[in-house]
Amino acid sequence: MTDVTTDNDAEEAANLRAALVRELREQGAIQSDAVAAAVATVPRHLFTPGVPLETAYAPDNAPVVKPGDNGGRHRSVVSAAHLQATMLEAAEIKPGMHVCEYGSGGYNAALIAELVGDSGRVTTVDIDLDIVERARTFLDEAGYHHVNVVQGDAERGVPEAAPLDRVIGTAGFWDIPPAWLEQLADDGRIVVPLRFKGTTRWIVFARDASGLISRNYGLCSFVPVQGAGTHTERTVTIDDGVVVCLDDEDLNVDAEALRRALHLPRIERWSGAVFDMPDEQTLFLLTSDSNMALLHADQARIDQELVAPSTARGVPVLISGDSFAYRTRRPDEQNGGFESGVYAHGPSAEDVAARYVELLRQWADKYHRRGAASIQYIPKPAAPPTSSAGVITKRHGTVVITYP
Ligand SMILES: C[S@@+](CC[C@H](N)C(=O)[O-])C[C@H]1O[C@@H](n2cnc3c(N)ncnc32)[C@H](O)[C@@H]1O
Repeated sequence: MTDVTTDNDAEEAANLRAALVRELREQGAIQSDAVAAAVATVPRHLFTPGVPLETAYAPDNAPVVKPGDNGGRHRSVVSAAHLQATMLEAAEIKPGMHVCEYGSGGYNAALIAELVGDSGRVTTVDIDLDIVERARTFLDEAGYHHVNVVQGDAERGVPEAAPLDRVIGTAGFWDIPPAWLEQLADDGRIVVPLRFKGTTRWIVFARDASGLISRNYGLCSFVPVQGAGTHTERTVTIDDGVVVCLDDEDLNVDAEALRRALHLPRIERWSGAVFDMPDEQTLFLLTSDSNMALLHADQARIDQELVAPSTARGVPVLISGDSFAYRTRRPDEQNGGFESGVYAHGPSAEDVAARYVELLRQWADKYHRRGAASIQYIPKPAAPPTSSAGVITKRHGTVVITYP
């Protein structure tokens, strides 16, 4: 006898997959027929048991597999479909390639298996045995027996899988493991969500004379890496629910002076320049002045109007001794859209606001576009360039962000 429920579910899942492809194409996350065909083929719901079908196929949903301890960051999720599609497009995976994914769940590995086809090879690695076992089970259920699932720490890589055409990270990595470079084919690409200065960008790297050079990048958010590559970000609380993230910064922050400044009346100064592409603008700001960090605030402090809504997701803050300024925006009545500006607090509010506004104008004038930054990774032992705001020291090398 036919299982009617299962047949109905399968039909509904196929319809939802087709709708997902249409939506991801409209968003621009899917651009190629190859990625469209992969998303249309792999039954995502088999990798998210217990999740309603509509939720499993919602483009922005990332079902939690392992929650964090005590309300902390999750340890494992099935990544959002729009992000997976965006990164797979950026990776330009072709039939026959050998690909290794660090951070498993099974679904993304199945998409990669579709892209490399029968002549390709896919290995997916996770540090967590539960995740490895789940991925193996789901991949088998979906018919992807040939995907190799391995338990291990990304830091070590998979020597037996080398040389690799593509290395794809799907956790928030704070650095690039040397093993990834060793195991990469000469014309290979590394696609990694890299954390620096409190933010994360997925970056497609190719080899160049000094190490790696970016081909493309974009904003993203991933669960943090575990194991040998773990890194705890440095934060300084300046008031209840108001925190400065100082990851990768040498900045010395006088928390008490900033707290006093925060409770002084603020000034606002406007740039006359467009507020747009906040992720691109944030990258420029964070890498253009060594006194720039990220300011985060809880919703409660925003609701009390102690800080502006721009702080909810983290906003670049320019710190100068006992004063600071951060970005905000207002509607541009004349031209439509928004104008960028700053709120500044403290005895030197006027100076710090002027410096910040100058950077906002510079970005709008010269770099107001997607992909304006060039991101280089110089592995040790090569000497890093002279220290500046765009030179970020990591454990195994240096990230250098410039605006050519
Ligand atoms: C966002 S999930 C991966 C999602 C998956 N690619 C999918 O198909 O949706 C990130 C995974 O990275 C794993 N992870 C974290 N640190 C790792 C490490 N050092 N080596 C390997 N896996 C790691 C976590 O256990 C977690 O399962």
